[in-house]
Amino acid sequence: MKRGEAMARRHCAPVVACVFLLAAAAAAATVVYTAFPPVSLNPCTYSLPRALLAVSGVDPYIVSCGGDDALTASPLPDGKNNIGGPIVTNIRTCSKPKLPPNPLPPFYCCPPMSASEPINFTLPDPAEPLRVRRPVHAVGAEHMAKYERAIALMKALPPSDPRSFYQQANIHCAYCTGSYHQNGNPELDVQIHFSWFFYPFHRAYIYFFERIAAKLLDEPGFALPFWSWDVPEGMQLPPEFANASSPLYDPVRNPRHAPPKVVDLEFVREQGENNLTADQQIQQNLRVMYKQMIGNAALPTLFHGQPFRAGEADQPGAGTVEMFPHNTVHTWTGDMAQPNVENMGVYYSAGRDPTFYPHHNNIDRLWVAWRDIGASRGYRGHVDFTDPDWLDSSFLFYDEEARLVRVTVRDMLDIEKLRYRFEGVGTPWVDARPPTTTDVNSKKGLLMKSVRFPVSLDDVAVTAEVRRPRVSRSRREKEVEEEVLVVEGIETDGAERVKFDVYVNAMDHEKVEPGGREMAESFVCLSHPRMDGTGKGMAIKTSMRVALNQLLEDLGADGDETVTVTLVPRHGQVKIGGLRIVYMVE
Ligand code: C2O
Repeated sequence: MKRGEAMARRHCAPVVACVFLLAAAAAAATVVYTAFPPVSLNPCTYSLPRALLAVSGVDPYIVSCGGDDALTASPLPDGKNNIGGPIVTNIRTCSKPKLPPNPLPPFYCCPPMSASEPINFTLPDPAEPLRVRRPVHAVGAEHMAKYERAIALMKALPPSDPRSFYQQANIHCAYCTGSYHQNGNPELDVQIHFSWFFYPFHRAYIYFFERIAAKLLDEPGFALPFWSWDVPEGMQLPPEFANASSPLYDPVRNPRHAPPKVVDLEFVREQGENNLTADQQIQQNLRVMYKQMIGNAALPTLFHGQPFRAGEADQPGAGTVEMFPHNTVHTWTGDMAQPNVENMGVYYSAGRDPTFYPHHNNIDRLWVAWRDIGASRGYRGHVDFTDPDWLDSSFLFYDEEARLVRVTVRDMLDIEKLRYRFEGVGTPWVDARPPTTTDVNSKKGLLMKSVRFPVSLDDVAVTAEVRRPRVSRSRREKEVEEEVLVVEGIETDGAERVKFDVYVNAMDHEKVEPGGREMAESFVCLSHPRMDGTGKGMAIKTSMRVALNQLLEDLGADGDETVTVTLVPRHGQVKIGGLRIVYMVE
């Protein structure tokens, strides 16, 4: 995006991006209050999408609202910053991280200084054999022994070596705690979570990690195994990591989640363990995968996250999979007895656990799967951004020869050119469409009382009929444009954590079973304490989006003139500016 356009976009703030202004038809202001059911102590009663490290209260520095408006996330006075353009980092300005309260040492995470300027990334030789990345549960003991040895070798390098395990873990810390600042806007942080940088940054990170492992092993074709927690065979911590005498072991983990405990892809710190059987948990996990990879991920911004450009505040909004299962698997693995669910459960320390890398290898695989599903099913929205601000943004890594390399997002888009591929596991969740619930919208049209937005969402659920500008669009139209419900003007005072769920066509939302299709999304926002010691929060204004094309088809509601949206408060107080339906191309 050129600077002029970026400025224009920014002026659309607050609250709505330009695309919303094009949308016709405001939400109908008919609102009905339904009694708020007591919050169940059973964490499975409601699905907990878009959560995170956020809801787990893990790290106030890593979490933004589950909202998605990059523009409103930019509280900077006009003219102060150079707005727009790619994000670029400079190793010389790396500084002290902003850590959560009571962190575990070490407290510094910048990489060793390089004697020379970073070199630009070049693709590996096309003649290099393809590395085949396989799942931990099926790759075989011999290969896992190699991974184990690679970690041991990295741990044995002196901490001053950028390829040492210590420095590899620090890469993550530096890029998620405000250690790096934006070139040209030194007061602004570089943060690679909660925006469109999530997938490409982590791809580059494990690309070098894998090559360093191969180099130390003296085995050029070594491929990093992945922890496939999205398929039933992989839904537990791989036993190799639980052996206390292995270099893969990390004592700072949740002891209740040792194998064969089945992972809960919606795990939330506050809610703790659920009471599902292993079989129920597996089925629930598959539904979660379906929602996050297909149902809710119909557009690049929904899957990848929101744009984050130079001059803008970080964390404009995460994509579906980043919120969960990515964040939830982090929290599930970390130790709840630690102040911040270290190691895996908080970003500054996550890289200290050797599960981090197979975990992110699976995230990398899911990016590939999302594009493949799009290609095979003709979902036009399952494509990457083409915005140069994304493509030209860059990050710094040390390669296997300990040279400092600048890597752009553009460099990371084609894994064949990066000389690896994934094998050995399918995507069983593509068929795990969540079930719909019959007769949960019986009150539609009844009990309506006219209420004007904005409304405060505190202890009662709010239901509104939202008019759809277009009804029964053709298949072709739907391929081109996604119908999106925008919950706009979400405002909190930042003093406490906020969570509410968005149900579609389910006024009797309490009857919807866990993972039910009507529970479309959740909004989660951690408290944002002000750093001035007043104990007050920083006010937050944002919005969230819910993909509707497939949801309305699943609910048999594609011909309806309106959708019934029920906002169910779960925690905290929040004001909602309005609901509307728009059609989005990207
Ligand atoms: Cu950078 Cu899994 O987080």
